[in-house]
Amino acid sequence: MSSLIRLSLSLNSEIAEKLDQMANEAGYTNRSEFIRDLIREKHTVLESERGAEVIGTLTIVYNHHRRGLTEEIISLQHNCQENVLASTHVHLSHEICAEMIMLRGTCDGIRSLAFSIKRLKGVLAAELNISPTGQNIS
Ligand code: NI
Repeated sequence: MSSLIRLSLSLNSEIAEKLDQMANEAGYTNRSEFIRDLIREKHTVLESERGAEVIGTLTIVYNHHRRGLTEEIISLQHNCQENVLASTHVHLSHEICAEMIMLRGTCDGIRSLAFSIKRLKGVLAAELNISPTGQNIS
């Protein structure tokens, strides 16, 4: 377990208020925990940009009545099978489907697949969430 280091920082009152407001809205009761999580999030972004491995969840909503769309979505996933860990399909209504696709790989690879699916006509929404794999986090 890593040791605890105390840091002090100086912020102007406007920034300090924003910090407390953001922490409160996110449900934090402790500034240190909030700042630690902000640093982790930023670190994930920077690592992702350097090509580190990440995991992602792509949630898509689409109209399966659109001719050929379901096949295209499946085909794109097969072409990136090394990145696709699993997927779950939910029938939202008579014609609308949702799919949650779990991904693993470089940020670029995962984003590329997400954009390929998002661009398809008939895809109504596509939201990609990226997380670290847990390596190099303390
Ligand atoms: Ni469906």
